[in-house]
Amino acid sequence: MSGASNAASRIPANELSKAQAEAELERLAAEISRHDALYYAKDAPEISDAGYDALRRRNDAIEARFPELVRPDSPSGRVGAAPSEQFAKISHTVPMLSLGNAFSDEDVREFVERVRRFFKKGEADSARFVAEPKIDGLSVSLRYEKGELKLGATRGDGATGENVTANVRTIGDIPGQLAGDNVPDLFEVRGEIFMTHADFTELNAAREAAGKQTYVNPRNTAAGSLRQLDASITAARKLHFFAYAWGEASALPADTQMGVIEAMGAWGFPINPLTRVCRSVEEMLAAHAEIEAARARLGYDIDGVVYKVDRLDLQERLGFVSRAPRWAIAHKFPAEKATTVVKDIEIQVGRTGALTPVAKLEPITVGGVVVRNASLHNEDEIARKDVRIGDTVVIQRAGDVIPQVLSVVLDKRPKAANPFVFPKQCPACGSRGVREVNPKTGKEDVVRRCTGGLICPAQAVERLKHFVSRNAFDIEGLGAKQIEAFYEEGRVMRPADIFTLEVRNARTDKPLQEKEGWGEQSAANLFAAIRERRAISLDRFIYALGIRHVGVTTARLLAKNYSAIEALRAAMVAASDHESAEYAELNAIDGIGQVMADALVEFFAEAHNIEALDALFAEVAPQPFVAEETESPVTGKTVVFTGSLERLSRSEAKVMAERYGAKVAGSVSAKTDYVVAGEAAGSKLKKAEELGLRVLTEDEWLTLVGEG
Ligand code: IVH
Repeated sequence: MSGASNAASRIPANELSKAQAEAELERLAAEISRHDALYYAKDAPEISDAGYDALRRRNDAIEARFPELVRPDSPSGRVGAAPSEQFAKISHTVPMLSLGNAFSDEDVREFVERVRRFFKKGEADSARFVAEPKIDGLSVSLRYEKGELKLGATRGDGATGENVTANVRTIGDIPGQLAGDNVPDLFEVRGEIFMTHADFTELNAAREAAGKQTYVNPRNTAAGSLRQLDASITAARKLHFFAYAWGEASALPADTQMGVIEAMGAWGFPINPLTRVCRSVEEMLAAHAEIEAARARLGYDIDGVVYKVDRLDLQERLGFVSRAPRWAIAHKFPAEKATTVVKDIEIQVGRTGALTPVAKLEPITVGGVVVRNASLHNEDEIARKDVRIGDTVVIQRAGDVIPQVLSVVLDKRPKAANPFVFPKQCPACGSRGVREVNPKTGKEDVVRRCTGGLICPAQAVERLKHFVSRNAFDIEGLGAKQIEAFYEEGRVMRPADIFTLEVRNARTDKPLQEKEGWGEQSAANLFAAIRERRAISLDRFIYALGIRHVGVTTARLLAKNYSAIEALRAAMVAASDHESAEYAELNAIDGIGQVMADALVEFFAEAHNIEALDALFAEVAPQPFVAEETESPVTGKTVVFTGSLERLSRSEAKVMAERYGAKVAGSVSAKTDYVVAGEAAGSKLKKAEELGLRVLTEDEWLTLVGEG
């Protein structure tokens, strides 16, 4: 993790500068994707749902503030991780999406308001909502043709899941044949597979007795039990199911959410008994309180309450935003806390040298996950909370990747505990650790940073990992694990070494193919993957350099503005003179602030970096940047809606326009491309006519975007 993002990770989303926001979005994309892989592909999450949700929420909040910084690989655009390789892949014709979160009553009120506002006045004022427990298991889609179970699939990444038909057939709660005579020809039932606390405890006790490793929590156990290649193992695990949604359907048995849920119940599915219809926000909040009160005696894990708009026609019109429906929200229960002992305080060194303190804890289970580490953020935080080795502390899994230390239980402090003295030296290389002083504010940075640069092994390895990361060189077969091993063995010490690996391998007496875990084929594959990356796009190349504050978006901006690496390099060298035209030009790029500009100039002024760059140029050829194509006739166009529209509410019209890549403006100017005028359009229409702009009727607009 970079030092910049470390520092930014503690700043509230609404206080981040643009540069910090960019660094944070980059960190969050990487973190969320890592947790997705741990959760979905390995069934071995490191954080609680609350922790994960907090990451997602923070990402969404930052994106809402800086829509221009939304990354192409943003977590908001996807759900979960790609399916594992062992099961056959199944495409979901109707994607299996996720839910937005509400954490307070206020968030719920806003959700209800948002839903009502989406429609024309009067249309949805009395809209009802279904409230039901959010089951903490794993979702599956069950396809029934003529009432017969044909296919069971996991969610996977939401678009593609795994074929687990043989496994779901072993679950008693899932009927092989639907009951009743109103079963549609085709119907995909969706819901949650879970394990009860009692079955989980029993299974773990049996495993322990057999000397096998025990499971961490019921959810992972359920997931692991379902995704068994040998379905007889699934059959031996007691799994349960609740139906709460559906996918593709040739017909629907009702026109409300509750109606369809009841129909699924009549077909033979277990339906959660706490599900109910609410007629107001007050009833929704009361349902939440009741379900939360019931939580402890349910015997299975739930982590909140889901509210869904009851009328299906309204659901359809509300549609989806990125990964979640606009017609539903999950009202989560508060984060769980626990008390444990700090055994040690360790200093970790990040890619940019940030020295980050981490509390090593007496392991403790919080919300079903074993916690061993907690973040202490920085020197000042340790001092402020006065956390000492030996202290008993309250930790909480909520707002970050690893849990936070909330406070110290002073009554339990051992007499011998001394205040923690933050080291002034880097633990990895012994170089001085300094706190930079911001030239503008004169304030000390909260982060202490190692000054060892390229000589610091912690930074070198982290830089190499960044260099091969997904948005950088992304070399197949060369991930963080291999980089660490190669660095340790002296095979790869700096980026350019990656590209000379094959030639050196032919000469060494310890060739890669003879190393444990490698063979002729895997070594040959790696060399081929490396060769393929010798021609790399300029933006990836720039990003790979790991310049402070330069994330994917900035790298792309630079690639677009300078087109070739030689031009960028020459300009950055010239820009070290702050009076130069080059420095002014760099600062004038929309999206590049002074902090980024200075970081770039500093990078290219550093002799070590230039050496590393020259070595790289001998091996790789960054390709000039080519801009992407547009996708719809209105992509990049500015549109103004005026007057009262017949078929769309204003909110719906805006969302639709944005979906097709258009920008919606509030007032007409010479920059407006289209004015969509409804009934009784007034001054805006007049102005549009005066300016000679394209004026469209609502129908013409719908035809233009292909929805006519
Ligand atoms: S509705 C299109 N209802 O929560 C909406 N989801 O965070 C689909 N979940 O992927 C989801 N209980 O695995 C819905 N009563 C419930 C749920 C529920 C648990 C899970 C489900 C979903 C995730 C979203």
